[in-house]
Amino acid sequence: MSNLTKNFFIGLSNNRILNENAKKWGFRLGADKFVAGTNMESVADTVKELNKQGICCTLDHLGEFVTEKKEALEAKDECIHILEKIHEDSLDCHLSVKLTQLGLDIDQSFCMENMKEILAVADRYDLFINIDMEDYSHYQQTLDVLKQLREEYKNVGTVIQSYLFRTQEDLEELKDVRLRLVKGAYKESADVAYQDKRDIDKNFLNIAKQRLLGDAFTSIATHDHMIISELKDFIKENNVSKDKFEFQMLYGFRNDMQFGLAEEGYNFCTYIPFGTDWFGYFMRRLAERPQNMNLVLKDTFYT
Ligand code: FDA
Repeated sequence: MSNLTKNFFIGLSNNRILNENAKKWGFRLGADKFVAGTNMESVADTVKELNKQGICCTLDHLGEFVTEKKEALEAKDECIHILEKIHEDSLDCHLSVKLTQLGLDIDQSFCMENMKEILAVADRYDLFINIDMEDYSHYQQTLDVLKQLREEYKNVGTVIQSYLFRTQEDLEELKDVRLRLVKGAYKESADVAYQDKRDIDKNFLNIAKQRLLGDAFTSIATHDHMIISELKDFIKENNVSKDKFEFQMLYGFRNDMQFGLAEEGYNFCTYIPFGTDWFGYFMRRLAERPQNMNLVLKDTFYT
């Protein structure tokens, strides 16, 4: 896809007014293919179905542009509600969170307190919390918060993005942390990030291999069959234990591959976003993959 198209959708994803209005529209433009529902109760059924097929899940209660403490506290309460439901229904599932949704842009220590409350509940139920990585302007703060949280809690990890030059350096400090490896979904400048897909893919493979030979658990999060195929060979050649990693993909993407990898005996986890704040998430998915535009057109003109 041209950079122009990608920038267009990333621009839309950052548009506060559209994000705010979309909450009132309900799912539109085909977003329901990628966003599993609006509330935890309905999403729990989706998780149960996937669990029956040997797939675990990570839930993301969508939310962006949080600037009021009240909204961050509501997001924190929702996270706790999700953890309680996971525990009550014995779901094979954990939770992914975004620090900006929990108040990072308001006050870092306020965000930290929210995270600690969530982690205390997760710890009680023996559940893992993953901190999604957002754009580069939040990168260092996210690592700082993670470091402080890990002084008290070990059930927390984060995401590394192979498009960033500095990921390789940060790996040493994160070598004991459970991590999700992704390519990176935001528009970053050439000062901090590779712009060429070949460089991003090469770095992804290098980092994945390094992690697979290390001790900590890694979630290999990509829909890229070429990368998955190369890593499967690497895993076999190096006798990497299947307990040390999982493959992850987003809900609604490449379902055949998701079930196929689980059937082959790999640990597989589906990332399931839900909630009314779907617009920014959906626009980032359109930025990544123009074919998703077909869904938008179908939904707009044929229904
Ligand atoms: P990419 O888009 O590079 O595609 C590579 C190739 O794979 C394509 O050319 C095509 O051949 C094939 N392909 C891809 N999708 C396909 C499809 N649907 N159908 C058929 N073929 C397809 N980002 C971030 O910055 N912070 C985060 O916290 C996260 N979290 C996260 C969790 C999970 C579980 C995933 C899968 C991804 C993220 N991401 C993320 C997003 C990530 O950074 C990245 O933008 C997307 O995964 C797109 O890159 P891919 O590696 O999937 O393939």
